[in-house]
Amino acid sequence: MPRIVAIANYKGGVGKTTLASVIAATLSEKFGKKVLIIDADPQSNITEVFIPPTSFEKVLGYAKTQQKVFSLEWIVGSGEPIVYRATENLAIVPSKPEYIGLAKYLIVPAERVYTLRKEIDDKLTEFNYVILDLPPQMYGLIGPLIKMASALITPVTKTSFALTALYFLIRDMRGTPPNDKPPFIGAVLTRFRTVEKANIEIYRKRVRRIVEEAYASYGMKWELEEALKSPIFERVFYAHPKLADIRALPFDPSENVRLIRVLRGKTKYSSQILSFVEPLVTEVEKRIEIAEKVLQ
Ligand SMILES: Nc1ncnc2c1ncn2[C@@H]1O[C@H](COP(=O)(O)OP(=O)(O)O)[C@@H](O)[C@H]1O
Ligand SMILES: [Mg+2]
Repeated sequence: MPRIVAIANYKGGVGKTTLASVIAATLSEKFGKKVLIIDADPQSNITEVFIPPTSFEKVLGYAKTQQKVFSLEWIVGSGEPIVYRATENLAIVPSKPEYIGLAKYLIVPAERVYTLRKEIDDKLTEFNYVILDLPPQMYGLIGPLIKMASALITPVTKTSFALTALYFLIRDMRGTPPNDKPPFIGAVLTRFRTVEKANIEIYRKRVRRIVEEAYASYGMKWELEEALKSPIFERVFYAHPKLADIRALPFDPSENVRLIRVLRGKTKYSSQILSFVEPLVTEVEKRIEIAEKVLQ
């Protein structure tokens, strides 16, 4: 059964998609895992990271002739998903921008979450991980989808709004049955610069307080406090100008997309990025494993 990892924060622009991309690509490229990304965001940003425009045209054609559907239709239960292979170990169920039109009405019924999870467990058995890249704000989608995840990770940037969004995300999650799901394995501080040591410490304290307050509002305690100690990842997802630039974009069709080339060490700045990305993704796996052991 694949581990489903949800990357969520109600706030937009906090680095969800970039973090999801890097986790998925590192697990597959560096750790040899089979990974499936589900792009659950109508903005289709992660689809653009892994599918170049020319290939996306082909995917549209393929969907028509094979009668397969993009992410949101699959998620609500109206068809078989397109599974696009980006590399040998990495695949994606793409979203498409046309979904922007229906996004505001979209509600995933609670029952669908069980059948979707079952479908993933039964049919997508080759994958070790399913990474869910979620939209901001679409509460009728985020809430139910998170419930089928094996772990939740929240990116937090240098804005107190991202913290408020985290507070409400945890509250909604814990207020909806089953209220122990999914385990929150931590917040990742994103887009901080390496020199901002003091800021990073301030944010660690703030996140801890927000997590405590959110759980306390339901008379609960963070369930992994003893096992994981801190609700904030030790590793920071640092800002790097080249990470702001990982969309696939036009290129020679024989070449891999940009992020894959970065992780394969094919760019001048590969080692800079790998120096903080590999330890971060190691911590992701470690935290998931600990959570599984403690909560089984
Ligand atoms: N570690 C990073 N370094 C540099 N830029 C980043 C980093 N993470 C995110 N960004 C940039 O910040 C913006 C928002 O990130 P994105 O991942 O799209 O957020 P979200 O999915 O939460 O809306 C994008 O322009 C992205 O390129
Ligand atoms: Mg996004």
